[in-house]
Amino acid sequence: MVASNGRLKIALQKNGRLTDDSLGLLRSCGLEFEFQKQSLYSPCRNFELDVLALRDDDIPEYVQDGVAELGIVGENVVLERGARVKQLQRLGYGACRLMLSVPLRSSIRSLRNLRGKRVATTYPNTLNKFLRSKKLRCEIVELSGAVELAPTLDVADAICDIVSTGTTARVNGLRPLLSVMESEAVLIANPKAFADKSKKSLIDRLLIRFSGSLQARGKRYIMLNAPVNAIPRLKQIIPALKSPTIVPLAEEGMVALHLVIAENVFWDVMERLKSAGASDIIVVPIETIIQ
Ligand code: PRP
Ligand code: ZN
Repeated sequence: MVASNGRLKIALQKNGRLTDDSLGLLRSCGLEFEFQKQSLYSPCRNFELDVLALRDDDIPEYVQDGVAELGIVGENVVLERGARVKQLQRLGYGACRLMLSVPLRSSIRSLRNLRGKRVATTYPNTLNKFLRSKKLRCEIVELSGAVELAPTLDVADAICDIVSTGTTARVNGLRPLLSVMESEAVLIANPKAFADKSKKSLIDRLLIRFSGSLQARGKRYIMLNAPVNAIPRLKQIIPALKSPTIVPLAEEGMVALHLVIAENVFWDVMERLKSAGASDIIVVPIETIIQ
């Protein structure tokens, strides 16, 4: 049992697809802590927060029961476990699909062909709901892991499992049939945590940092020099460029433009910016954007 020391607790997956990005998100919020997946919890040095390292499947229940006030976990896991938790934010990473797949040589080609077949999964509730919505009866083979091996071991004709990069499916000779749901990492909270004034204020402070970091994701701060009369053309090239900061330079008729744009947009338009008169272009990463 974790000591109830008045500090906020956030549960993360201790070892898996979401671990690195979740740690990265906390660190980009300025939180300093040592993280060891073997140790249950890591205290933050500069915030009233302890980071709990748990199995992802257990996170929804732990947050529901108040062991941790907050948790970061796949939306797929929250829905499967049916936990009574509040979803605070989608986090924009850990994108995946819960996918029905069959062996490459299988004669199953459509959802209808699955009727009466054995489908192995660690997501029995989600799968059951999906099959009912499609008025399809299958035999659900509930496993606790290594679902991708089920067809080879002849315990199932198809599987319903998470596909992210697709490597696991490819390596195991599986072909996708149909996507059951899409998912990404979400921030969840125990609904009662907000009743405690000091916990609520800690959560609010943390949420501002999370939003700032998420806002900054994929964005770059661009500084460039250009002749004043090039500004209208530059604005045409970057439609998102509504109100850049314009700073006059010592050189007569020259200005510096500072702006925030998505990194991919920048690379798309960089050549055109140059031919429109932009020079000395500096691109800087952004840590956070507080609005
Ligand atoms: C899923 C799934 C596969 C893997 C697929 O596990 O069970 O093992 O991810 O990813 P890939 O398409 O990139 O190969 P997940 O991390 O969701 O959770 P688990 O480890 O708790 O099963
Ligand atoms: Zn898991």
